[in-house]
Amino acid sequence: MKCFKLLILCSLVQLVCLQGVGSGLNGNLRLCIVEARGTYKRAGKFCPILDEEQSGVECVIGTDRLDCLRRISKGTVDFGPFSPEDLIAAQWANIDVLVTNEIPHRQRSYERTVVAVVNRRILPDSSWSLEAVLRNTSLCHPGNGVNDLRPLSDTLAGYLESLVIARSCESGLSLSENRIKAVSQFFSKACKAGPWVPDQKQDAELKLKYSNLCEACETPSCDANDRYWGVTGALTCLLEGAGDVMWGNLDDVLAYFGLDSQSNQHPSSDNFAYLCRDGTWQPLKDNPKPCVWLNRPWPIVAAKRKTAAAVSKLVSSLQDGALFDGHWHGALSSLLEVREAPTPLYPPRAPLDHLATARGFREAYSQNGCDPPRHINVCTSSLLEKNKCEWMSEAASVYGVTPPFQCLIRDGVAGCLRSVQLEESDVTIVDSDWLVSAMRDYKLKPIMHEVTPIMEQMDTVFAYVRKNENINKMADLRGKRAAFPRFDGFAWHSVIKYLNNEQNGCTENLNDYFSEICAPGIEKYNFTEEVVKKYTKTCYGIDRGLDDGEKAGFLGLIHNKTDVAFASIKTYNSYKVERSHGPAVGIEIIPLCLEENKKYCYIKWANIGHIMTIKNLTSVRSHEIKNVFGKLDQLFGTHQPFHNPMFSLYGPFSHNLDVLFKNNTKRLATDKIFETHPYVGMPLNFEGSLVNDTFDSCHLSHILALNFAPKSAPVVAILTLLTVVSSFLLY
Ligand SMILES: *[C@@H]1O[C@H](CO)[C@@H](O)[C@H](O)[C@H]1NC(C)=O
Ligand SMILES: *[C@@H]1O[C@H](CO)[C@@H](O)[C@H](O)[C@H]1NC(C)=O
Ligand SMILES: *[C@@H]1O[C@H](CO)[C@@H](O)[C@H](O)[C@H]1NC(C)=O
Ligand SMILES: *[C@@H]1O[C@H](CO)[C@@H](O)[C@H](O)[C@H]1NC(C)=O
Ligand SMILES: *[C@@H]1O[C@H](CO)[C@@H](O)[C@H](O)[C@H]1NC(C)=O
Ligand SMILES: *[C@@H]1O[C@H](CO)[C@@H](O)[C@H](O)[C@H]1NC(C)=O
Repeated sequence: MKCFKLLILCSLVQLVCLQGVGSGLNGNLRLCIVEARGTYKRAGKFCPILDEEQSGVECVIGTDRLDCLRRISKGTVDFGPFSPEDLIAAQWANIDVLVTNEIPHRQRSYERTVVAVVNRRILPDSSWSLEAVLRNTSLCHPGNGVNDLRPLSDTLAGYLESLVIARSCESGLSLSENRIKAVSQFFSKACKAGPWVPDQKQDAELKLKYSNLCEACETPSCDANDRYWGVTGALTCLLEGAGDVMWGNLDDVLAYFGLDSQSNQHPSSDNFAYLCRDGTWQPLKDNPKPCVWLNRPWPIVAAKRKTAAAVSKLVSSLQDGALFDGHWHGALSSLLEVREAPTPLYPPRAPLDHLATARGFREAYSQNGCDPPRHINVCTSSLLEKNKCEWMSEAASVYGVTPPFQCLIRDGVAGCLRSVQLEESDVTIVDSDWLVSAMRDYKLKPIMHEVTPIMEQMDTVFAYVRKNENINKMADLRGKRAAFPRFDGFAWHSVIKYLNNEQNGCTENLNDYFSEICAPGIEKYNFTEEVVKKYTKTCYGIDRGLDDGEKAGFLGLIHNKTDVAFASIKTYNSYKVERSHGPAVGIEIIPLCLEENKKYCYIKWANIGHIMTIKNLTSVRSHEIKNVFGKLDQLFGTHQPFHNPMFSLYGPFSHNLDVLFKNNTKRLATDKIFETHPYVGMPLNFEGSLVNDTFDSCHLSHILALNFAPKSAPVVAILTLLTVVSSFLLY
């Protein structure tokens, strides 16, 4: 018996000795896993099995794959599954990892093998240069889609193009247009269906300008519904003679021409050939190893250098019998998406060495840009924002989003607005409270917005009051005490606009309308102490440093410091939840419904974030900015529900929500959004009401009223911050 116990102890010790080098509890190896966005949660299902069966492995959930790489770099996790693109990012970010295993999904060397197939009718009599063979022929392009890597990422597609076509770098054209132009001039025509750039208006303009790239399509609309769109579409285009050449995945080519099974060979496969990178060609038939343009390696397991040997041993233990054993080996296989026994790499390799085994892959990521280089400079106002911005920039570069981003840091939002105004930065992202100031004081405009279709998550202004106080309609608010979340912010201007009924004239004045006003934040402006005191003395919690103006408003209602609090329904809902757990005070807070907005009740709504640029942006720059943010949104936004992303634009960063972009953002959109459902049916949009606003008469009288209203205010307060006002005072 004693002996038996000892045996168990020994084997436990051995287990610990084997895998005790990890960063987890008892030296467990920590696996970083990213949950896909869909309802199927791998980690939730399989991680508990690893714990229960004392596998020596434990899970850590990362926000995205780059988050996992950062955690490996910091040493808080030991390994994880990654894509070959992630390794490029790891290299650029100087993250020290080793590749321990490949995770093939089928029994062959590469995940993807790209070949070129041509119609023999374009082949010259004897071998010639690639350029000479292909110039002025017709291209079957699989087209672009929202999906990031299928058929090819922008980087890989751009690399293939660069092997044939000289880069175009006209400074008067956006980088996307330069690329399209070069292809358009090289080929006589093409079918490149689907969106070329994310912005629809720009897409239509480009398709008109470079119409030969749609000429080979079946329908003139040149969209993703075209018969020749997509992987199979491009092959159909080639087979039916609409085009002469295409790049595609070897598997797809073999399947389409029936070359993978001897029986169903397509009768016309003799009319086609593989074209090689050196301009020579090879037959389609009976050619098991055709010439290759590009290989994309399989997904891999990467590990912290110190634990690489243990990880390699662990992952290599996932052999056929263990893959689906219903125990922890099976759970680990599912978490790593292992379908075939993983290929161990002895010894574990540095990322670039590993990628060098795939033809063209590394080269594709070291293409030269245009000279002088172009960037989109993003201004950030904290180190955390700058960090996220830099990772966003890496991820975007890996996926071929051009021009690349550069991230600047300035002091606070005001510092960033100034930086954009001075044209040191191209864009900065602000919330709705800053919108008026950005437009009025820094002469900027919003070029895109962070949008959500859910009203409860948008920026809204509702009037909240205590129930049973005989305040039943907006007009009952006259003469009452009012609390705003922020001076000069979204709610402040929404109420001014409401009182003046959207007219540019100024009939009502906040000071005359309400008996008392709480407007925190006024202390940051250059008003006299007296003015500051007047507009903060009824604010709840301001002496205790409560800096959430909306929440302070609700507390003000509860504690009878105010009669109406202007706030968003989002804060109202979260406040309700919070209160339901706290001591019940017996005071119920209800929204007042705007008579002219019975459906939604709010006074104004706004999108939750705004990308600001200078007003006189050139159209090239404007196109580029819309393109890059549109691409970012497609690649790293919320579009791919079942995908575990390399980078998550709207997700948390370093455990913080709402860094750079808001967590609730569903996508980034231009003003076109206002013409679409559900936004078109939502009255009283805030941004829309600012479009033609000159920010003069009305705002001015409100701000001046602040200064002159207190009868005792002896001197004119100093208003340097509000340039409009100071110039007014000069006259
Ligand atoms: C390109 O090909 C078209 C027909 O496909 C032909 O009409 C045209 O002359 C060619 N252009 C050049 C420059 O070879
Ligand atoms: C709330 O405050 C106002 C103004 O100070 C006061 O007139 C009113 O009686 C208070 N209401 C309650 C219920 O205490
Ligand atoms: C925009 O206008 C400002 C002021 O008129 C000027 O200094 C600046 O050069 C202009 N910028 C561009 C890109 O046109
Ligand atoms: C963040 O956004 C996600 C997806 O939109 C949502 O499920 C989650 O509840 C949000 N988290 C918070 C704290 O708002
Ligand atoms: C703004 O002004 C332009 C030109 O005067 C006009 O076409 C547009 O309808 C106005 N927009 C709004 C929201 O009033
Ligand atoms: C505020 O006013 C004072 C007094 O004129 C002035 O010296 C100071 O520069 C102003 N501050 C700002 C931020 O404009």
